[in-house]
Amino acid sequence: MASQLFLVALLGIALVSATPVPQQAASAKFSSAMTQYIQAFKSIMPCGYAPDIPVLAPIVNPFYAFDCSSDDYNLKGNVSNIRIEGLNNFQILSASDYGTTGEAAYDVIFPKIQILGSSEIEGFVNIAGVPLPIRQRDLINEAFVDLRFVGSYSFANSLTNSSGLRIVDFKLAIYLADIQLDNWNTLWNISTNNFWNRWSKTLISLGLQEIQPKITDSLYQNLLVPKINEMLANVSMEELVNYFQSQAQLWENAHCQA
Ligand SMILES: *[C@@H]1O[C@H](CO)[C@@H](O)[C@H](O)[C@H]1NC(C)=O
Ligand SMILES: *[C@@H]1O[C@H](CO)[C@@H](O)[C@H](O)[C@H]1NC(C)=O
Ligand SMILES: *[C@@H]1O[C@H](CO)[C@@H](O)[C@H](O)[C@H]1NC(C)=O
Ligand SMILES: *[C@@H]1O[C@H](CO)[C@@H](O)[C@H](O)[C@H]1NC(C)=O
Repeated sequence: MASQLFLVALLGIALVSATPVPQQAASAKFSSAMTQYIQAFKSIMPCGYAPDIPVLAPIVNPFYAFDCSSDDYNLKGNVSNIRIEGLNNFQILSASDYGTTGEAAYDVIFPKIQILGSSEIEGFVNIAGVPLPIRQRDLINEAFVDLRFVGSYSFANSLTNSSGLRIVDFKLAIYLADIQLDNWNTLWNISTNNFWNRWSKTLISLGLQEIQPKITDSLYQNLLVPKINEMLANVSMEELVNYFQSQAQLWENAHCQA
């Protein structure tokens, strides 16, 4: 009995010391400021906000040519009439109150992101030393259904400036309920197109499951979080909250009605 209590106590200490979250002043306002900022951003997506933010709902790109090559591939082509819809239809399913819990947790879902357009690609891709020629003329019609981001993070004092901030304990999982592929390669017949759509769909779903355990570590811990922490190093919680609130105010004042 005594040893069990001792273990529990040890565990308690370990848990507490694993996440030291000395909250800075204004932490109580972080979650509401963040929510206001995101809702305001959502509201300006159909209009954009000059000079930095283009129209994002929908994203429309009339023509884009590319020509990229390496030892292993050479792809030349273009995409036209690209239209991406649904980026502003996200819903915040839940968000924790950082001031109370010491953890900013969120659960955000995009019910449907639709991508339409057409593309032409020519070139080759080297697979195991064999150059595989690629020649495609595609009508693009795909949709991501119920794309969901569930994650959390917390703040600690910056290591370089004790008044500044840094993000710690960053976690993220991405879920995709379905992907609808109805792409059409005009150089192919019906059965080949159907086969290719089914195959790509399986491949994308598997790929996402495959990288799932690595999303947090590689993508975010290593790439995004250090960048953000660099930006936050000389920013206090009070300044961060003020920034979210004043930026949200500017976007709200734009009264985007598109
Ligand atoms: C790209 O678009 C143009 C039309 O502007 C077309 O003539 C050209 O063949 C396209 N395809 C490739 C692979 O560049
Ligand atoms: C469609 O094209 C594929 C590949 O070229 C071919 O094997 C298949 O027989 C074709 N199917 C029909 C129904 O024409
Ligand atoms: C933070 O301030 C220090 C000292 O003024 C400066 O050396 C550093 O570059 C600043 N960091 C950022 C990201 O602005
Ligand atoms: C450290 O961060 C605080 C909080 O934003 C800032 O006011 C101060 O200028 C920073 N110190 C340095 C040396 O940059």
